Amino acid sequence: MKIKRKHLLISLYLLFTMSATASQVEVLHWWTSGGELDALSELQEKVEETGNTWLDVAIAGGGGNSALTVLRSRAVSGNPPTAALIKGPNIQEWAKLGFLTSLDDIAKREKWDEILPEFIKPIMQYQGHYVAVPVNIHRINWLWLNQAIFNQAKITIPTDLNELIAALPQLEAAGYLPIAHTSEPWADAILFESISLSVLGAEQYKQAFVDLNPQVLSSPAMINAFAKLRAMSLYIDKNAKNRTWEQSTKLLINDQAAIQIMGDWVAGKLLQEKQSLNTKIRCIQFPGSEGAFSYNVDSFAFFKLKSVSSEVKQAQKTLASIILTPELQRDFNARKGSLPIINTMDKSDFNACTLQAYADYQQAKLDNTLVPTFAQAMATTTYVQSAITRVISSFIYDKSISNETAVVQLTNAIKAAQ
Ligand code: BGC
Repeated sequence: MKIKRKHLLISLYLLFTMSATASQVEVLHWWTSGGELDALSELQEKVEETGNTWLDVAIAGGGGNSALTVLRSRAVSGNPPTAALIKGPNIQEWAKLGFLTSLDDIAKREKWDEILPEFIKPIMQYQGHYVAVPVNIHRINWLWLNQAIFNQAKITIPTDLNELIAALPQLEAAGYLPIAHTSEPWADAILFESISLSVLGAEQYKQAFVDLNPQVLSSPAMINAFAKLRAMSLYIDKNAKNRTWEQSTKLLINDQAAIQIMGDWVAGKLLQEKQSLNTKIRCIQFPGSEGAFSYNVDSFAFFKLKSVSSEVKQAQKTLASIILTPELQRDFNARKGSLPIINTMDKSDFNACTLQAYADYQQAKLDNTLVPTFAQAMATTTYVQSAITRVISSFIYDKSISNETAVVQLTNAIKAAQ
């Protein structure tokens, strides 16, 4: 991708103004898989080019539960990192507790108000002040499938949820693992998120998981969503509980499993594995959810630091500045499988799945079908999100729970968590 002259000048400015006060930045995150590490190394390199050093605090575990637990204990004991990967309303929760620092001076200097998409700005702010910086937009409602397996089993690509469910026994009969699932609560939630978006549609999805409307939560459509989840859950194998999302992707690459339901960090993994995207392993919109775009914005929240040294504070600002530079946006997102935040980027180097995500994202904005992911903590508070996730996981692994009971549990759990 080409870099505009203006962008180059901003980067040179950053390099010169910030290298004078070198220090260390400590960054807490859960990016430990192949593509994630490749993407993060782009940020680390750009920080180190300014003369600062990078202290990596990587806590494994897709979805970030373990990382956020470590973050909580560090922050309450007065030892927060420089910045941490925190998303959605959780940013507000941290800011409300007084842990986050204002980034308004950088935001003003670098015109974040102009650069950031409208719907992302309020997520990054607390009481009108910027406290976090977004790095990308991931899409959740994807289905990854091995085209070679579908060809071999003579199954056409499913165009709706019923066709998808009907394909599962056929894939199994052809000798393949139908779904490469990861039995972890956050991945269970992603499975149900795509199903519910398909069954409810974008509008009712928002009413259920953003507005938490009890009528929609307990509606026949929601009962139907659980029925579809039950049908799919019958094809989750026992080994799923020992499998990371990355190992699931490997099963697709190795022609062992037919599909994976997961966000487009899978594209980052495929690229790292030197797979050409959308050829053997294809990305299709989760059947029945076409047109809707469930977004997940990775962002770094910045902490008030114990140290009063100006070097430390300057290093923190340098990190915040770099994240929205065109170079970082280009290099990071090319490896992460996500869309850049900056809309003016050259699209010619996007891989096939990111190109499709980009087109769908633009259309969803126009159609008002852009929805925040609840599974990945963009739609509600962390308390409500955990309550929803618990109901989903217990339903998947306890086959005695009926669809109707699950819906009652969902409504009650959400009510209690609000
Ligand atoms: C993050 C992604 C990450 C995925 C798997 C999600 O919570 O938003 O950036 O790749 O977890 O680790």
